[in-house]
Amino acid sequence: YRHIFTPKNKKEDPATMSKSTFSPGAQLNVPEDCRRTRRIIAEDPDWSLNIVPCLSNLCLQSIVKNFKEKPIYEKLTPVEKDLIQERLSPSLPLDVTASMISDGVYWKRCCEQRWELCDVSHYGHSWKRMFLERSMENIIELFIPGVTEPKTVQEMVSYCKNYIKRLDISQLLPPIKEPKKEEDEYALELASDNDYDTPSMDHFDFNILLDKLTSLEELHLVYRVKQCGMNFEWKMFEMTDRDCVSLATALKSCKTLKVTIDSSSVDKKCRLLVKNLLDHPSLRELDFSHNLIGDRGARAIGKLLSMSKLEILNLCDNDIRDPGAKALAHALSKNSTLLSLNLRLNRVRDEGGQAIGKALMNNNTLLHLHLGANEVTGLTAIALSKVLVQNNTLKCINLSCNNLGENGGKALEEAMSCNTSLTECDIRLTKVDDQIVSAINKVIWTNQSLEEKKQAQEKESRH
Ligand SMILES: *[C@@H]1O[C@H](CO)[C@@H](O)[C@H](O)[C@H]1NC(C)=O
Ligand SMILES: *[C@@H]1O[C@H](CO)[C@@H](O)[C@H](O)[C@H]1NC(C)=O
Ligand SMILES: *[C@@H]1O[C@H](CO)[C@@H](O)[C@H](O)[C@H]1NC(C)=O
Ligand SMILES: *[C@@H]1O[C@H](CO)[C@@H](O)[C@H](O)[C@H]1NC(C)=O
Ligand SMILES: *[C@@H]1O[C@H](CO)[C@@H](O)[C@H](O)[C@H]1NC(C)=O
Ligand SMILES: *[C@@H]1O[C@H](CO)[C@@H](O)[C@H](O)[C@H]1NC(C)=O
Repeated sequence: YRHIFTPKNKKEDPATMSKSTFSPGAQLNVPEDCRRTRRIIAEDPDWSLNIVPCLSNLCLQSIVKNFKEKPIYEKLTPVEKDLIQERLSPSLPLDVTASMISDGVYWKRCCEQRWELCDVSHYGHSWKRMFLERSMENIIELFIPGVTEPKTVQEMVSYCKNYIKRLDISQLLPPIKEPKKEEDEYALELASDNDYDTPSMDHFDFNILLDKLTSLEELHLVYRVKQCGMNFEWKMFEMTDRDCVSLATALKSCKTLKVTIDSSSVDKKCRLLVKNLLDHPSLRELDFSHNLIGDRGARAIGKLLSMSKLEILNLCDNDIRDPGAKALAHALSKNSTLLSLNLRLNRVRDEGGQAIGKALMNNNTLLHLHLGANEVTGLTAIALSKVLVQNNTLKCINLSCNNLGENGGKALEEAMSCNTSLTECDIRLTKVDDQIVSAINKVIWTNQSLEEKKQAQEKESRH
């Protein structure tokens, strides 16, 4: 609305007018409606026609303005907190905001200011968790050993240790190499072979981090350098022995961890890592896919299986052959807690496949078995058929891209006609007769629909 100027109050003195209407005490007690009928004479051309804001609003504004020096938040009412969240500057330092500001609009604004894509459902619908996790990831991904102060990480950890549940580190930078002088090169030539394995390429040391993150449940690591361009070197994509030792001890200290995903570790390093994970109290999932793990690594992992509560193990795309598969099978036949084993894209032949089949004949917890793209044949299919007939717990097997042949197909078909619990069975590209494939698929489909019905019923009964 606008103020109306009438002849009647034209003669009033603007000074007294301003005093009576704008004295703070009067202002506070005057109800909203009274102020609306107030009239003002604009003899002073600079006179502001706006209503003076409420004192409480002025206070909030002042809190927002001085938040860095004098943060006041806890004592406010929920409505006032919302107002503060909407107005605070997203660039305030974390040491002020992290412990004080609860999850809400403020953190949403921080995220949206910093990143274009923000999928909060990926972070348990917590904007605060998203901001703190991604900020931490950012710091680690840009950490240059020997250059970046470890203090920056430690400070960050102290602010956000209680909020970080998952860290997804997509690159780890190596230290900057000093340009070698000529004398140094000469010295290098003289150096023994042992020294030559440049131990200077160590990456970020997780020991300063993991034992303090008391809520961490998932850790995903990739040892690589993104966008390295013409500076490419294979070393940028490998972890050194010392990386491996330090990561292993760091993982050991992290009691809450459920998932480790690791990349680019060869056999020996895998063994080093696994050795330190034995008897880990909370490790449930381990993903070593796309590495170069061989039989000795698989043996170490077998030992880990019998000395941990691992539930999901992914060894996809490695170099595991029969001895490794047999070691895993041996671990399975002991009372392991494993639910899912993925051996896709390895070099397991029948000896290993049959060993796994035999192991599953005992009481077992395994639900998913993936042997796709190995070198197994009908013999393994027959061994697994025996498992199926024994009405085991197995729910899903994937044997695609193996040469199962006629015999293997027949054995599976026979097994499927018994009372199996199987609801998924992938035998594409296995040289099995089309008729048999369709017969097996038919059983699978009916089983699937039965399973779905069962689940629907369970859901209903629960409600
Ligand atoms: C595993 O089984 C063995 C015997 O088969 C038993 O002695 C041992 O206590 C079991 N361990 C666990 C963790 O169940
Ligand atoms: C398998 O479990 C059944 C009952 O659950 C038990 O009677 C049997 O001894 C177990 N067999 C083995 C080899 O552990
Ligand atoms: C397992 O299969 C055998 C026959 O093959 C049957 O006697 C037994 O009841 C089945 N056990 C379960 C738990 O279904
Ligand atoms: C099939 O197995 C289930 C458990 O796996 C059992 O409840 C059911 O009775 C079995 N049916 C036949 C015909 O053996
Ligand atoms: C799967 O199908 C077979 C054959 O029709 C049947 O005996 C078995 O009970 C089914 N299993 C499940 C879990 O529905
Ligand atoms: C079996 O594995 C292949 C890859 O090897 C995958 O494409 C396929 O979806 C898997 N089948 C099932 C039923 O999961």
